[in-house]
Amino acid sequence: MNIQVESKPSHEIEADWLVVGVPESDQWDDSLQGLDKSLDGSLTRLRESGDLTGKPGNSLAIYDASRIASKRLLLVGLGEPDSLNVARYTKAMSAAAREVSEKKDIQAAIVVSAAGSLSLADSVEIAATAFTVGCVGQDLYRAEPAHFRFAGIQIVVSDESDEIKAAVRRGSTIGQAINLTRELVNRPAQDIYPESFAERAESVAADCGLTCEVWDEKRLKTEKMESLLGVAQGSDRPPRMVVLEHNGGGVDAPVLALVGKGVTFDSGGLSIKTGDGMKEMKCDMAGAATVLGAMTAIARLKIPVNVRGYMGLVENMISGNSYKLGDVLTARNGVTIEVLNTDAEGRLVLADVLAVAVDCGAAKLIDLATLTGACMVALGDEVTGVFSNQQQWCDQVLEAARTCGEPAWQLPMFDFYAELLKSDVADVKNIGSRWGGAITAAKFLEKFVAETPWVHLDIAGPSFASSNKPHREGGASGCMVRTLIAAAEKFGSE
Ligand code: BES
Ligand code: MN
Ligand code: ZN
Repeated sequence: MNIQVESKPSHEIEADWLVVGVPESDQWDDSLQGLDKSLDGSLTRLRESGDLTGKPGNSLAIYDASRIASKRLLLVGLGEPDSLNVARYTKAMSAAAREVSEKKDIQAAIVVSAAGSLSLADSVEIAATAFTVGCVGQDLYRAEPAHFRFAGIQIVVSDESDEIKAAVRRGSTIGQAINLTRELVNRPAQDIYPESFAERAESVAADCGLTCEVWDEKRLKTEKMESLLGVAQGSDRPPRMVVLEHNGGGVDAPVLALVGKGVTFDSGGLSIKTGDGMKEMKCDMAGAATVLGAMTAIARLKIPVNVRGYMGLVENMISGNSYKLGDVLTARNGVTIEVLNTDAEGRLVLADVLAVAVDCGAAKLIDLATLTGACMVALGDEVTGVFSNQQQWCDQVLEAARTCGEPAWQLPMFDFYAELLKSDVADVKNIGSRWGGAITAAKFLEKFVAETPWVHLDIAGPSFASSNKPHREGGASGCMVRTLIAAAEKFGSE
């Protein structure tokens, strides 16, 4: 999508929609006052009548804005200006983008300024991302889409410096990465399966200058990835592992590894899910799709670090060849695993892929997975669960999430949780007891990262939504793409 920077007065901007943020205070900036004047004081009157509150979530559309050059005007509440932050501005801009993208061929213009903790460049980046993401729906297979990509976007600012232009490029690159993740997650399992995911990763990698290697089932076997292969064996779709490489940091620089769970469909296997539990399980490759999305942005933004993205791709299905309860799998690092629930498959996939990342010399690890329903019980469906074996690295990832406005919360990793994974017949079993399921899953993964500083992000809740909200489309959210990009930048600046 084409995004331009403009520094004309708002009332001179020609567009189908002019989007203007309105604070919940009487201190209007020059641009808002100027607009009010061009509109003969109608904004002041709307404020006095209580229709234009500026509260978060309050938006007011004026469909016949004949006194200004734009055809229509959307006034979006931003809340108290002093406390404006990334999360709130992202929400407001995303809701606006969704509202004005319901028709085809729309030219959108957004008036952007600094406020609260946000610099002008911050606000510009957020607006560019939100407008790139907000006009794309989950309606890939619908004859009549609910949203249309903008014909053009103008970002209206007081200053057209190089810094602002760079913020637009960055915001748009991040938005495209989020849209790639969303598209892959939103596509059903009939279209996205291990081979097709890997092919898409190859073509995307070629476009943005990433090295890409795909391991097929033969290679997975010679690499001793019997845990991943155990999950895959019930499916007619053969598994894959994809490795993407971005070398922005030079030959001797440490490597950050991003590892994603890519279960392209999770039926539960022989421990079969109910229809209700299964119907959204095309989303179970969101971890892998998040890694792929983030890697494209890390490459396009030329972040000066070495980052590798590992995606473990399998389908968890039922057939005469499915792995069974009681089976013992030997993971790549030699740990034997007793399978007592074939629906706890994500950890079996990640076990081998994490071990590969460690063997390939990762200095630090982040994995992402739609791993447990228990994480949603603990934190709800909007918050990412965070688990780690090293507080310093964990704090950096949490800080990255905070600066991106993505809610994430750390859960404990006390040693005694690992007791629950003891097996009578093997080194470990793949389920814990009834309680603390998100944590026992993380304790399981910990056995495959050796001493490497590692953070596990359980995105079962926030990665996929069953219904629309004003500020976001239902379906895939693309959550944590931003956080991974920010974490890669932090990793480089240590
Ligand atoms: N993919 C699911 C977790 C999930 C649930 C993701 C809901 C998104 C929404 C995972 O493979 C799973 O089935 N986990 C089990 C683990 C249990 C068998 C120990 C769960 O959470 O019930
Ligand atoms: Mn499962
Ligand atoms: Zn799963």
